[in-house]
Amino acid sequence: MNSDSNNRNAGQTDAAGAHRGNFKSRLGIVLATAGSAVGLGNIWRFPVETGQHGGAAFIMLYLACVILLGVPMMVAEFIIGRRTHADIATAYERLVRENPRDTRLSRLAPSLWPVTGYAGMVCVTLILSYYSVVAGWILKYAVDGLMGRLTSLGDESAYFAEFSSSTLPPLLYTLAFLLATHMVIVRGVQNGIERISKLLMPLLLVLMFVMAFGSLTMPGATDGLLFLLRPDFSKLTPETALSALGQAFFSLSIAIGCLSTYASYFKQDVPLVKTAANVVGVDTMVAVVSGFIIFPAVFSVQGVQPDAGPGLVFITLPDIFERLFAHTPVVGYVFALMFYLLLVLAALTSTISMHEEVTAFLCDRYHIPRRHAASIMTATSMVLGALCALSFGPLAGFKPFFGRGFFDAFNDVTAQWIMPLSGIVLSFFVGWRLPRALVEEELTNHGTLKMPRFIVPTFLFLVRYVTPTAIAAIFIGQLM
Ligand code: PHE
Repeated sequence: MNSDSNNRNAGQTDAAGAHRGNFKSRLGIVLATAGSAVGLGNIWRFPVETGQHGGAAFIMLYLACVILLGVPMMVAEFIIGRRTHADIATAYERLVRENPRDTRLSRLAPSLWPVTGYAGMVCVTLILSYYSVVAGWILKYAVDGLMGRLTSLGDESAYFAEFSSSTLPPLLYTLAFLLATHMVIVRGVQNGIERISKLLMPLLLVLMFVMAFGSLTMPGATDGLLFLLRPDFSKLTPETALSALGQAFFSLSIAIGCLSTYASYFKQDVPLVKTAANVVGVDTMVAVVSGFIIFPAVFSVQGVQPDAGPGLVFITLPDIFERLFAHTPVVGYVFALMFYLLLVLAALTSTISMHEEVTAFLCDRYHIPRRHAASIMTATSMVLGALCALSFGPLAGFKPFFGRGFFDAFNDVTAQWIMPLSGIVLSFFVGWRLPRALVEEELTNHGTLKMPRFIVPTFLFLVRYVTPTAIAAIFIGQLM
């Protein structure tokens, strides 16, 4: 065996020869990766974006974005992770080292590509912090649902405002969510991440279909469906396109290293393009089915508009549940509880993938035991998460980032700056910097996978020209 194939088969060991772990089954891979993608982005953010940008028109643009940009970007990340079987920072460093380029620029300046790996880790840490706060709120609503309180909250808006602006309860729920994530991570790749994904993802899909069925039998179902399916072309504006692209990136967890970290646990025979297509398919289906759950319910209640905004899940929906099920409280109890449970499961599989990216880096790089690495990440996210949680309460007046508090600043800097910029770098890296032969080897599993001839050139065309241009367009668009 030559040294290259030695490297390629080093899936279970890191640079120092320590055990790294890998996913056991193909199904586990698709479910874990889809678990990273499916999250609050699908069930909370997607319906809000769809509602605010005119329904079907937005969905059409969104579908174009996930197919033309989402799949190639996801494959690009898979290539980086699976080729190196390393954490995201090491992966960039190793790929640059092993594929030297002798240009005047490369002799003058040290390679800056690996900076993207570190930026990705900063980005997921910030996302994990504010995401855990929202996930904590969801957990609180799931507990309320269990106690049967959700269908009798009274003034929903005041209820949410009072809870989110208090001090201790949001902190405790954020902590509970991070600890749940931590417990999965310390069990490792196969026993933790893969096992929990195989349990939670099917449960989530079953819950979704049961709820969509329930929702489609509601009185406003036809209006809800029409809103989702009949495009209003006047809504096809550049602004809608930008939102669709941003939503696609966030929803697919693209460009910041979570997916390459998972791919570093893929075995050599995993088909990358097919896996990406499956994951994108599941993610998109969950988003659209969430629309089928939410909009029929929204249209069933007089006076509620579909563009209710970010308060949808915490204010509008409890109100809807209360009014809709006033005469059938048992159905209301089950429906509301299932809905928040669904959100908890979806959020958990996403926070796990964010946490794993940094934990993997700490283990690989510093050779510390996994549970210590995980504790460092959990503690860091909790401190930052506390600042985000408190920015709705005691720290509400503290806005150190150009007039923004912690929660908003973390949200903006990750979604509007780090994700798009990392996406552009990732496209260039895989499209132009990596040798074409390497990309081809990864796409075809060293020639062992039979696939139509056009796949490799199409992939290269997309990551070289289409994805960087499209991302640059959103990036510049939002600055203006
Ligand atoms: N894709 C996740 C969601 O839809 C969020 C996420 C973003 C997860 C970035 C990992 C990395 O909720």
